[in-house]
Amino acid sequence: MATKKFAGPSPYVINTTYPEVDFRHTEYINNATAKKSRTSAAPVVAAIFGLGRAGSIHLSSIIRNPRIILKYIVDDRPEIFTELKSYWKLEDQVVCLTSKNADRVYKDKSSASTITSVHGERGADESVWHREQDASSTSCQRFIDDLQQVATLRGGVFHDCVVHDFDIACWILGELPVRVHATASGLITEVKAIDDFDNIAFLLTYPSGTVAIGDNSRFCAYGYDQRLEVFGNKGMIKVENEKPAHSLESYIGQDGIKLNPIYYSFPSRYKIAYRRELEHFLDVVQYGVPIEVSSWQTLAISKIATAAEESARTGKTVELDWSKDGIPAEYS
Ligand SMILES: NC(=O)c1ccc[n+]([C@@H]2O[C@H](COP(=O)([O-])OP(=O)(O)OC[C@H]3O[C@@H](n4cnc5c(N)ncnc54)[C@H](O)[C@@H]3O)[C@@H](O)[C@H]2O)c1
Repeated sequence: MATKKFAGPSPYVINTTYPEVDFRHTEYINNATAKKSRTSAAPVVAAIFGLGRAGSIHLSSIIRNPRIILKYIVDDRPEIFTELKSYWKLEDQVVCLTSKNADRVYKDKSSASTITSVHGERGADESVWHREQDASSTSCQRFIDDLQQVATLRGGVFHDCVVHDFDIACWILGELPVRVHATASGLITEVKAIDDFDNIAFLLTYPSGTVAIGDNSRFCAYGYDQRLEVFGNKGMIKVENEKPAHSLESYIGQDGIKLNPIYYSFPSRYKIAYRRELEHFLDVVQYGVPIEVSSWQTLAISKIATAAEESARTGKTVELDWSKDGIPAEYS
């Protein structure tokens, strides 16, 4: 019988493998085998500062995580505290404070970690660059060696928005730019009124000769459009948008093909990355794992963002000198 003749060994008797990129399967394996190496440390006692958009994302990850015990919530909108505690079913052990009383957190010797999501407080402990723990970005970085020399990089307001693009470009290329040029305009009335920009294009030139071209807009009518192309002498790598239900396509009547929209904004696009980021944060605090986003990387990207804004405001190209910053030669 042909089926017998061509049958291979049973999958139950051979060593099966799965693709490394399937990080959800790795998570499943770790859960199924309850790896002891990651369960020996006592839970981290933490405080969360700022409970706006980003803070509420971190709160939802913390509440679901047995490795962390939330002791304090600090926010300057005390009117949200009662509903917040009832919505998340927070026990009375979680103390809600305003920043005026935050000293109580600093003096409490049991709270080892703070997670900060307040404007202007992008600290090393927040460590939320978009690439970190995101499957598409890390896969793209893994494939980069296949391209050999990278010639150009294209992708999608300076310190709180475009910084992510600068970080991804430097991290993927492994180097820091020596020249920055940006042009920008404020097309949205409210953005223009605060002397900021919503429509940006930038050009970064790297010591290797690689050039990164990026564009960014504050508003995108059709969702969180974030694409990346890395072009090199051996070929190209593309990172496309992710969708909530990517496998659905409909062909109804003669109107063409309908696909699901892309993710609407960062909370849904990066939902899994935010959860994995918390796991990494806890690995650093509990097990001394080296942190994947260093303080010098955060400072380097801020320097690029400042240079890009200067370029957009003056119309001039800004040269960057890294020799006095004590920054390692390789970014990633
Ligand atoms: N990496 C990401 O994906 C990402 C996404 C969104 C925001 N962020 C960053 O997170 C930070 C917060 O952004 P957001 O969009 O959540 O802002 P937001 O305005 O929604 O929330 C800020 C919160 O901080 C509170 N607050 C203000 N001053 C405070 C103080 N001194 N102490 C405690 N709480 C205080 C406010 O009451 C508010 O609830 C920013 O630095 C932003 O760039 C990162």
